[in-house]
Amino acid sequence: MKSIHVLNGPNLNLLGQREPDVYGRETLADVEARLSAAAQAAGADLLFRQSNHEGDLVDWIQEAGRAGAGVILNAGAYTHSSIALRDAIVGAQAQVIEVHVSNVHAREDFRHVSMIAPVARGIVAGFGTLSYDLALQGLLALRAGK
Ligand code: DQA
Repeated sequence: MKSIHVLNGPNLNLLGQREPDVYGRETLADVEARLSAAAQAAGADLLFRQSNHEGDLVDWIQEAGRAGAGVILNAGAYTHSSIALRDAIVGAQAQVIEVHVSNVHAREDFRHVSMIAPVARGIVAGFGTLSYDLALQGLLALRAGK
């Protein structure tokens, strides 16, 4: 069974309430429900997680690497600062799609830098919460060798 781990970083637990003009009104639970249904329809197994703590994300990336699972990663603000997450992706040889709800390149300069992008297999940003669905579609296609 194809396995996909969706990992969410800091403040994404506030999706739906937090800056709705930037991130929209959908909650992370809404995203999880939609992605779980899509994964099930595609015959994939989906694990969906969120943490505000960098070390949890490091542990989960390593776990996904060990399990050979594909990763959809919205690392939130750690995207722009975390060498530890970048090292975890490389060290665990995890196949990662970097995801952002907002178009980070149309925002503040500090959001234009990503520690993850150079070691990600692909990037989806700026489609609102639909970014997650597009990343899942892309990752499933990659893993099916399409
Ligand atoms: C974000 C963009 C980041 O810059 C920000 O720190 C977030 C959310 C996004 O999904 O658009 O927390 O990753």
